[in-house]
Amino acid sequence: MPAKVNLHLGVGPERLDGFHELVTIFHAVDLFDEVVATSAPALSLTLRGNADGVPDDAQNLAWRAAVLVASHAGVSPDVALEITKAIPVAGGMAGGSADAAATLVACASLWDVPSSDLPALAAELGSDVAFPLLGGTALGTGRGEILRPVPMTQTLHWVFVLADHGISTAEAFRELDQQRAAGAAAPALDAAPMTAALRDGSPQAVAAVLHNDLQPAALALAPALRRTLDAGHEHGALAGIVSGSGPTCAFLCADADDAAKLAAALDADGVGRATRVASGPTPGATRVG
Ligand code: C5P
Repeated sequence: MPAKVNLHLGVGPERLDGFHELVTIFHAVDLFDEVVATSAPALSLTLRGNADGVPDDAQNLAWRAAVLVASHAGVSPDVALEITKAIPVAGGMAGGSADAAATLVACASLWDVPSSDLPALAAELGSDVAFPLLGGTALGTGRGEILRPVPMTQTLHWVFVLADHGISTAEAFRELDQQRAAGAAAPALDAAPMTAALRDGSPQAVAAVLHNDLQPAALALAPALRRTLDAGHEHGALAGIVSGSGPTCAFLCADADDAAKLAAALDADGVGRATRVASGPTPGATRVG
């Protein structure tokens, strides 16, 4: 299941349910976590790959996804889940949501739940779970769970710079509320410039309108990200942005060659914990085997 970056992230006011109204453009990139679900005597979860700090119990969104599909199907959640993580943990790339979406798909297939039931189950689990089912590029509204595909004509080439520590999504939204209470910038709730750039434009046109309302909050919580963004610009990225609630930074490049060169330059300078080269859009919800 793919990771995502928000090409546009406009955050409106907090709603009565505690979530914020969003106008966002999700974009799926080819960094994948893999989930294998096998019938077993009881529910269990095994983690592999870069899974530091990821819970292997009911705290994990994938575990909750298995329980939700089972209850929807009227069966007991007897499945062994094995998750191999490549998407950065707590990185602003919706890795936990991708694992939950993959678990929904795998368990639905085990327990004969129609795939048309999955978007509603995804929205129950979290704001970012519905998108990895769909993949591609999509406009997200509501708290991010109401999706409409956005057509685009080009492949975008990215470098992602991973940080040493995660940022809690809830904390980033709280920080933004505080900044706004103190007079910070108004929300950017118009994604039309980005949809136009995606439909007709070059990577340069997309770069010119990348926007993330949560970026000032992420920079306040993790000031070292400023240096990461500066380093990406210095080494020739078209544009750089904090991915979602951070701390992963996403750099848009003109082509695959430039992305490989930028990643090598950032690695040589020791910027961030690691870099990943990826491209998008990539499809969602794929079942392998
Ligand atoms: O839905 P999810 O569990 O991914 O959200 C994590 C937290 O991020 C929420 O508890 C909320 O504090 C914040 N959030 C928000 N508005 C959104 C999405 C998430 O305030 N639209």
